[in-house]
Amino acid sequence: MNYSAQQVAINTSADCLIVGVFEEKTLSPSAAKINDISQNYLSRLVESGEVSGKLGETTLLRHLPNIAAERVLLVGCGKAGELLNERQYKQLIQKTVQALKTTQAKSAVSFLTEIPLNQRALYWNIRFAIETIEQDLYQFTQFKSQKIAEKSTALSGVIFNVGADELASAEQAIQHASAITLGVRHAKDVANCPPNVCNPTYLANKALHLAETSPLIKTTIVGEAEMEKLGMGAYLAVSRGAHNEAKLAIMEYRNALNPNAKPIVLVGKGLTFDAGGISLKPAADMDEMKYDMCGAASVYGVMNALAQLQLPLNVIGVMAGCENLPDGNAYRPGDILTTMNGLTVEVLNTDAEGRLVLCDTLTYVERFDPELVIDIATLTGACVVALGQHNSGLVSTHDDIAAALEQAAQQSADKAWRLPLSEEYQEQLKSNFADLANIGGRWGGAITAGAFLANFTKKYPWAHLDIAGTAWLQGANKGATGRPVSLLVQFLLNQVK
Ligand code: BES
Ligand code: MN
Ligand code: ZN
Repeated sequence: MNYSAQQVAINTSADCLIVGVFEEKTLSPSAAKINDISQNYLSRLVESGEVSGKLGETTLLRHLPNIAAERVLLVGCGKAGELLNERQYKQLIQKTVQALKTTQAKSAVSFLTEIPLNQRALYWNIRFAIETIEQDLYQFTQFKSQKIAEKSTALSGVIFNVGADELASAEQAIQHASAITLGVRHAKDVANCPPNVCNPTYLANKALHLAETSPLIKTTIVGEAEMEKLGMGAYLAVSRGAHNEAKLAIMEYRNALNPNAKPIVLVGKGLTFDAGGISLKPAADMDEMKYDMCGAASVYGVMNALAQLQLPLNVIGVMAGCENLPDGNAYRPGDILTTMNGLTVEVLNTDAEGRLVLCDTLTYVERFDPELVIDIATLTGACVVALGQHNSGLVSTHDDIAAALEQAAQQSADKAWRLPLSEEYQEQLKSNFADLANIGGRWGGAITAGAFLANFTKKYPWAHLDIAGTAWLQGANKGATGRPVSLLVQFLLNQVK
């Protein structure tokens, strides 16, 4: 989809004009203009009750008297004067897209830019519109024999109407939104890919390919032989039951004004399939464990967005690719592993594998002397129990990074909620036989998982995002969400000052 912003005259010839109407027979400024030109066509509809202005109600009109555009789409915006929150606004955009899909309009001019949002400037009106449209139009057809799916649309361009003084911020919104939606699309594509295709080598190849197409990115791959040399005993233990080799993919994006500036490091859990290992998961919904690489997918998405935005930052994206399968050679409950930083870990459950892959990766990234490290992981079912599917869990040893992530989450409407990480939680990870156990018992599982990781992040400021509840949807709309690409890109945008 092509997006642009300009000041558009209301009586322009276009395939479709999109204008708002409010409840209580109130027209938006653009609707009022159309009403004047069309000899009160709209006010008659409103008076008759045919158009109520209820939030998300859409009415498609064709060939209005004296109106040059072929179609006018009226969109209900709720009560005039009641500012929409981002959720209501996204619903309104979704309904608009649904209505446009029923037409053959190739391009549309949106006057919904004049609908005021609560505490949000025009920038957000446009950015959320684009993010919502792209979310709605996304399809994963790679494995369908019939590629043109039912949901496709004739629409190929949207022009946002803005005032001359708003042009700069509108263009910035479009630029940011297109990078974010590109990142989200890439993240969804790799995440939705089935586990017989998307294995650790597939992730590594994606990272290599990104470096080929983006001069600012350099990719290196660490395979099992090198992990052996580095002493990554926890990571390798998880991979032992799998035939596909574990691979750590490192994408270095260097574009800071000071080339020696310490990098921001993003580490993504990349379990391309998590069967649980010897502590085998139940069969129901196990297919969803192909999504256990959504942390890595989001990092890959962010790196794609960065390559497009060319932000003046140094950012290193790491995908920790691995599989967790039961096998005669698999690691067992009871095994004691030696991690790369020397701490030993008693395995009490082989299904708590994410933290084992991540702990060695978090030690590995010390070599980059990071400014800060954020890991992103579908780490615990407990996080979904705690927060549900709307907020990602946030755990951090550093209040300032946590606050910056909370702010980025709020701005991007890609929500996250911080969980406490006080010292007491470490006690749950005590082992009689090793330095640490890999599980912390029944209570506070999302936090004890974070507490486990905190033992491996003492050399730099660190935060952890648990995206187990937010990375994909279940049921009829099953599929990756691309979260938290938007949050992370926002975080990086905020780092540029
Ligand atoms: N990948 C899972 C976490 C998960 C489960 C994410 C369900 C989304 C939905 C992780 O590797 C795991 O299995 N965690 C265990 C930890 C437990 C054994 C302490 C869990 O959450 O059950
Ligand atoms: Mn697991
Ligand atoms: Zn897992």
